[in-house]
Amino acid sequence: MNTKQYTRVGVLGVASIATRSVIPAIISLPNQYKLAGIASRDSSKATTSARDFGCKAYENYESLLVDPDIDAVYIPLPNSLHYPFVIMALEQGKHVLVEKSLGCSLIEVQQMVELASARNLVLLENFQFRFHSQLATILKLTNDGVIGNLRSVRVAFGFPPFADADNIRYKPELGGGALLDAGAYAMKIAPYFLGKDLSVAHASMAFDSARNVDIWGGGMLQQSGGALFGHFSYGFDNYYQCSLELWGSLGKLTTNRIFTAPSNLEPELLVETSHGAERKVLPTDDHFKNILNYFYKLINGDASTALEYEGNIQQATLIDQFKNVVTTSSIS
Ligand SMILES: NC(=O)c1ccc[n+]([C@@H]2O[C@H](COP(=O)([O-])OP(=O)(O)OC[C@H]3O[C@@H](n4cnc5c(N)ncnc54)[C@H](OP(=O)(O)O)[C@@H]3O)[C@@H](O)[C@H]2O)c1
Repeated sequence: MNTKQYTRVGVLGVASIATRSVIPAIISLPNQYKLAGIASRDSSKATTSARDFGCKAYENYESLLVDPDIDAVYIPLPNSLHYPFVIMALEQGKHVLVEKSLGCSLIEVQQMVELASARNLVLLENFQFRFHSQLATILKLTNDGVIGNLRSVRVAFGFPPFADADNIRYKPELGGGALLDAGAYAMKIAPYFLGKDLSVAHASMAFDSARNVDIWGGGMLQQSGGALFGHFSYGFDNYYQCSLELWGSLGKLTTNRIFTAPSNLEPELLVETSHGAERKVLPTDDHFKNILNYFYKLINGDASTALEYEGNIQQATLIDQFKNVVTTSSIS
């Protein structure tokens, strides 16, 4: 049994998001974490990466998962592999931080949450924007009435095509497609402003019939017990946008890096009212470190795991509703 204060984390896959952002953040929190190991389908990749990051190499995912010297795993695999490896990790008694989207269907997410709950383990989907201080500032400004009463929310997250045709996002068998990748962010942020009682009222998507994945789309989220709504757009073949716009009875608040503010960026908010426009420059923050701090709190019982389970189900339910109401047009 681990008698140390820190959590020993293993990583499944030498993924770009892991090596660029999450592993450096794990290493930067030595009081909370020890990077214990990294596994790859390719043992030479695991060896090189383990040497770079000063941890143990595992020649496949399964050998890391059965190691009793690992307390928690970070799973940055393609979406379709989240379900089998999350289940395996939970069965081995590990807490799980998994990349978005947590599952490819509502049923998968329900089963993962049920198992996590039965085993009293953490299951956290890696939407790090939730823990950037920018979001807390925006919530405070709106709660303080800076833009009056909220009337609508608009979210846009999209980027130009990926240079590599081999990208996991273009592979249907790996859970690719823009909805589970970029579109999922709108569903995750909407409840912060519109509340939990939400449903997808309308949805539209363009399906790339050559690649066999959805490539851009959008929709409308509606409150069940109120008149508020949000509209959102996302895509893989779009001019870059990463914006949130809150339109109120007295003003409008906009930000352009709501999901992706890097740790060296001072995010800017634009607040417009009848008194004029004010640009607010916010402090830098590291949301990768912040979500890891939160994961540590969950593991140690200092934050509510039940609320995360609920959030996981709500997120998957909204994506499921989107798929049920969507109008799809094929493009080639
Ligand atoms: N939270 C965020 O900000 C953020 C940002 C980017 C991506 N993501 C999410 O993170 C996950 C990984 O994205 P990524 O951009 O890091 O992808 P990536 O660089 O392609 O990494 C995925 C890794 O999965 C492993 N893998 C297992 N089976 C595979 C297969 N059949 N084809 C390709 N790779 C396979 C590979 O590791 P080995 O070969 O070493 O086993 C690969 O390096 C996705 O769920 C994505 O949505 C999140």
